[in-house]
Amino acid sequence: MGVRRCWGETRALVTGASSGLGRAIAEDLVRRGARVILTGRSLARLEETASGLVRAGADPDRVIVVPADLTAQADRDRLFEVVKDRFGAIDLLVNNAGVGATGQFDTHEAWVLRRVFEINFFAMAEVSRAALPLLSEGVAPTMLVMGSINARRGLPGRVEYSASKFAVSGFVESLRIEWRRYGIHILQVNPGFSATPFDENAVAKTARVSVASWRTASPESVATAALRAVEKQKREITLTPKGRLLVLANRFLPRFVDWGLSRWILRHFPDSPVLRKRKPRRQVGRVS
Ligand SMILES: NC(=O)c1ccc[n+]([C@@H]2O[C@H](COP(=O)([O-])OP(=O)(O)OC[C@H]3O[C@@H](n4cnc5c(N)ncnc54)[C@H](OP(=O)(O)O)[C@@H]3O)[C@@H](O)[C@H]2O)c1
Repeated sequence: MGVRRCWGETRALVTGASSGLGRAIAEDLVRRGARVILTGRSLARLEETASGLVRAGADPDRVIVVPADLTAQADRDRLFEVVKDRFGAIDLLVNNAGVGATGQFDTHEAWVLRRVFEINFFAMAEVSRAALPLLSEGVAPTMLVMGSINARRGLPGRVEYSASKFAVSGFVESLRIEWRRYGIHILQVNPGFSATPFDENAVAKTARVSVASWRTASPESVATAALRAVEKQKREITLTPKGRLLVLANRFLPRFVDWGLSRWILRHFPDSPVLRKRKPRRQVGRVS
């Protein structure tokens, strides 16, 4: 299944386009000839991306930057005013902006959970709501939502992030059916560990083990796979062999995956107070 998409006539809005995966998707879209609005909080990084594209030959009228903090209603309103004014309708919404948080849930303060949900879930959901009138006027309208392997298998050391991405999966799965009546297709993309500044930009970083060496998927490869999935009107794609293996193993052998991950968590948190409590040291020679 699929639709013939004419990229040259596609009007796209990409969130989180100032960095990483969103930036790679926006660049790929512009190279395909689409008109793209790039949004993120950092005007400097958005402008750097846009000027790089124009230097490489893109038509400046096809690359528009709009800085916005998507957790703020006023910024979302302003963004969608510009989108309506410049495009009139949206054919492709890439709902990608997101943040991570690493470390043990019980050692984090409540704001970490709230901040992660504020961006990964509530902002994503409100961007979808605000985009609906423009998407429903679009041609072969599609919303791509950035999920994660963590949207299908929760990982220790990433409790807040995993929970937010599971919420994304539930949102996508149910909204996909509701939005059929508007002819809007929804695709969830679950990248594996990708080489972006995602870890540096995390709102909390208390995990002791870095997964930097696992970040092997290039943002460009994620962009290519994501846009191919848009063309094929896929419901969901899961990327990287390791990512697919984890999701598959979890479906059939969840206890085995739990076991593997509990060994992994020991490496993350060698002095975890919780783990120490479970294995108390024997007190030797104690006189009472
Ligand atoms: N990298 C991976 O391995 C990986 C794997 C699976 C899923 N993902 C998902 O892919 C998406 C992009 O991540 P990435 O790896 O590209 O990370 P990244 O390089 O840190 O990019 C995150 C983007 O989100 C934007 N953003 C963050 N908070 C925002 C806010 N309040 N308002 C507006 N924009 C905001 C950032 O822009 P500003 O800082 O300019 O606001 C940035 O453009 C996320 O949803 C992430 O969960 C990533």
